Amino acid sequence: MRTYLVTGGAGFIGSNYIHYMFKKYGDSIRIINVDVLTYAGNLENLKDIADRPNYTFVKADICDKEAIEKIFEENDIDRVVHFAAESHVDRSIKNPEIFVKTNVLGTAVMLNAARKAWEKEDGTYIEDKKFLHVSTDEVYGSLPDDDTAFFYETTPIDPHSPYSASKASSDMLVKAYIDTYHFPANITNCSNNYGPYQFPEKLIPLIINNALQGKKLPVYGDGKNVRDWLYVEDHAKAIDMVQEQGVIGERYNIGGHNEKQNIEIIRIILETLNEMLPDSDPRKAHINEELITYVADRKGHDRRYAIAPDKIKAAVGWTPDTMFREGIKLTIKWYFEHEDWMKNVTSGDYQKYYAEMYK
Ligand code: NAD
Ligand code: DAU
Repeated sequence: MRTYLVTGGAGFIGSNYIHYMFKKYGDSIRIINVDVLTYAGNLENLKDIADRPNYTFVKADICDKEAIEKIFEENDIDRVVHFAAESHVDRSIKNPEIFVKTNVLGTAVMLNAARKAWEKEDGTYIEDKKFLHVSTDEVYGSLPDDDTAFFYETTPIDPHSPYSASKASSDMLVKAYIDTYHFPANITNCSNNYGPYQFPEKLIPLIINNALQGKKLPVYGDGKNVRDWLYVEDHAKAIDMVQEQGVIGERYNIGGHNEKQNIEIIRIILETLNEMLPDSDPRKAHINEELITYVADRKGHDRRYAIAPDKIKAAVGWTPDTMFREGIKLTIKWYFEHEDWMKNVTSGDYQKYYAEMYK
C-alpha cells in the first residue's frame, strides 16, 4: 500500500486533494496529513474522512525538524505532496516574515527529511519515492494586458509580492535538490483555484459571503486585473497525474485557459447567486451591482496571470473537467449548503482581519 505524506492538508487545496485521492484510490492508499492548523487550517474540512483507518492526522509545524523526521522514521513514506504554506498575498504585504519562515524554511525541512529517509549510501534513492512541491503561477510575475502572452515553464522567475518571492525561493530550493542531489521531485505551478472549503479572505468566497450578507464588494484598483481560474478538483487531479506519470525533475504549469478580469468574476457571481436563490429568499433584494465598491489598489498588484498548459497536456494528458460556469455553480451550492462552516471561520479573528484590511 502506497503511503502519502500530505502537508497542509487541512487547508483549502490540501483538503480537496485528500478528498479527491480517497475518492479515486479508496482503501488502496494511506494518507498522513501533517498540518499545524493556522487560521487557514480547519479540521472541519476533513470531518467526513477523519475516521478512515487509512487516514492519520498529525498536528505539527513543517519547520519543526524533529517532528517531521519522526514521521519519516515511523512510516515508510512513498509520496510527499507539499501544500503547507502561508498563502494570502495581502497578509504577506503586512507581515512578510512568517511567509519566509513557513514557505522557505519549512520547505527546506521537508526536503531534508525526505532526502534523509530516501537516499541510499551510494547517493541513489530507494525505488519509487517521489516529492511533489505545490507552487503557484505568481512566481512568474505579471503579464501585460495582452491576451496572447502566457506563462510557460521556461518563463523567467520574477516575483513581486513577499508571498510570491517566498514561493519562488522554495521552488528554487526544490530545483537545487533536484540538480545537486538528483532528488526525486517535481514542481507544479498552478493558477488561481476556487471551489469548496476556500477561506473567505480570497476573492471568490469573500464576494459570495459579502453579497449574501448585503455587504460591500471590495474591488482593488480598476477591477481589470486578470486571474486564470481553475476548479480545485482539477488541480488535485493534475497533481496526482504529474506525480504518477510526469518525468521526475520536471516542472509543470497547471491552468485551464480561463482568464477573467476581477470585475467580470464579481458580475458572474452576482448573476449566478440571483439565478440560484429562489424568489422567496429575502437576500435576493440586495444582491445587485450597487454593492460593488472600488477601493485602494493592492501594493505591487500583478496585472495579469495566464498559464500555458501545453506541457502538462502533452506529457500526462491532463485537461480540466469543470468549466467556470459549472464550477462557480458547484462552489456557490457548496457555500449555500455549508452556512455553518462559513459562520465558524468568519467568527473571531476573521472579523479583526477584515476590519483592519478593509478599513
Ligand atoms: P491555505 O492557506 O488554504 O492552506 C494552507 C495550509 O497549510 C493550512 O491548513 C495551514 O494550517 C497549513 N500550514 C501553514 N503553515 C504551516 C506550517 N508551518 N506547518 C504545517 N502546516 C502549515 O492554502 P491553499 O490555498 O490551500 O494553498 C495550498 C498550496 O497551494 C500553497 O503552497 C499555495 O502556495 C499553493 N497554491 C495555491 C493556489 C490558490 O489559488 N489558492 C494556487 C496555486 C498554488
Ligand atoms: O495565482 C495563484 C495564487 O492565487 C495563489 O498562489 C495564492 O495562494 C492565492 O491566494 C491566489 O492569489 P491572488 O492574489 O491572485 O488571489 P486573491 O483571491 O487574493 O485575489 C484575486 C484577485 O482579486 C487579485 O487581483 C486581487 C483581487 N481582489 C482580492 C480581494 C481579496 C480584490 O479586488 N478584492 C479583494 O477583496
